Amino acid sequence: MRILVTGGAGFIGSNFLNLFVPRHPEHTFVCLDKLTYAGNPLSLSDIQGAENFTLEVADVADAEVVTRIFSEFRPDVVVHFAAESHVDRSIHDPGEFVRTNVVGTLQLLNASRAIWKGSATGRFHHVSTDEVYGSLRDDGTFTEESRYDPSSPYAASKASSDHLVRAFHRTYGLPVTITNCSNNYGPRQAPEKLIPLTILNALEGRELPVYGTGGNCRDWLYVDDHCEAIWTVIERGQVGQTYNVGGNEERTNIDVVRTLCQLVAQQTGRPAADVLGLIRFVEDRPGHDWRYAVDSSKLKRELGWEPTLHFAEGLARTLAWYVANPSWVKAVQAGEHQEWLKKNYDRRLKTARDATERP
Ligand code: NAD
Ligand code: DAU
Repeated sequence: MRILVTGGAGFIGSNFLNLFVPRHPEHTFVCLDKLTYAGNPLSLSDIQGAENFTLEVADVADAEVVTRIFSEFRPDVVVHFAAESHVDRSIHDPGEFVRTNVVGTLQLLNASRAIWKGSATGRFHHVSTDEVYGSLRDDGTFTEESRYDPSSPYAASKASSDHLVRAFHRTYGLPVTITNCSNNYGPRQAPEKLIPLTILNALEGRELPVYGTGGNCRDWLYVDDHCEAIWTVIERGQVGQTYNVGGNEERTNIDVVRTLCQLVAQQTGRPAADVLGLIRFVEDRPGHDWRYAVDSSKLKRELGWEPTLHFAEGLARTLAWYVANPSWVKAVQAGEHQEWLKKNYDRRLKTARDATERP
């Protein structure tokens, strides 16, 4: 098979390629990625020389370039990861989220339709998020039947792209599948997201911002388990279907941050109280979803997928990866990325309270 992976230099896409390029030498992979601040060629260094892998630097929203790549490579499968993915950035600047996540998805759907010409043999797999369903209170879970109710511009743009993917199936018969997944963590995640941000700040002795009370809850899944779920759906999922993917590992944000503080204290030999003392409760995210929890029973029942790694083991593995990869961290911290983080947190941290004054 010829497999086109968009956004393959980002967090989940690079873990996907690092798993499946070596595992499947019989398939050819092309990564189509614009290499925004979130795309890092270093994340692909282990497979750069592989005979079955090529990187094409391109923008998914550029119809002309997308058409050229599709007509040259003629993919059998498209795995669509490329997106602007960070909720806080979408609050500051929603426009880019609509361009990449909505218009970009439309261009890829058009290009897929043009080369598959109504045949049911191709596959467009859209990688989406549980955030399309909005927020839960203290009980209940998201199922594939949950109503779409996105809160942030990011979530609204992903909801919109999901609708386009389904519409291309219903209207033109395009062979599509969709996965809606909960929060991923693991190696190669840019440190704008909670877990890598906390790991690197704690290792480097910087303050650890926790939004609001820290009571918001997420359902965490190790990235390789998500990648295996996507591969399972591509191989055996039913065309036109949506599958929810979750880790069944719900934690409040403050629990996650405290656990990471303990792990960093063990790793560095610093007293746990010193690392915990870096926690700062800061101004909340506007429209902050309270809780996500995903029911993945359809994927388990119909396709036999299950998460394999428990959260405690996954966090320890993730911390070990950041400690063992200082050149990756240095490259990310040298970029535009760090400037945005500073802008985002300087104001928030001014009004911060430390953990001992917790509300
Ligand atoms: P990421 O931000 O780490 O990576 C995004 C990648 O897309 C980067 O390599 C970037 O360069 C590329 N990209 C951005 N704009 C592009 C454009 N216009 N053209 C081509 N490439 C472009 O994101 P991630 O966390 O790896 O998420 C990947 C996908 O999975 C996204 O669609 C996201 O919505 C979805 N998702 C993420 C999570 C999560 O917890 N991270 C959970 C569920 C679903
Ligand atoms: O649920 C899936 C989604 O998970 C994906 O679709 C998104 O692409 C991905 O970014 C993630 O979204 P979240 O907003 O949940 O992830 P983030 O790591 O930004 O935040 C996790 C929680 O931690 C959230 O409740 C906000 C909070 N938070 C985040 C940061 C960055 C903090 O308290 N402090 C922080 O510094």
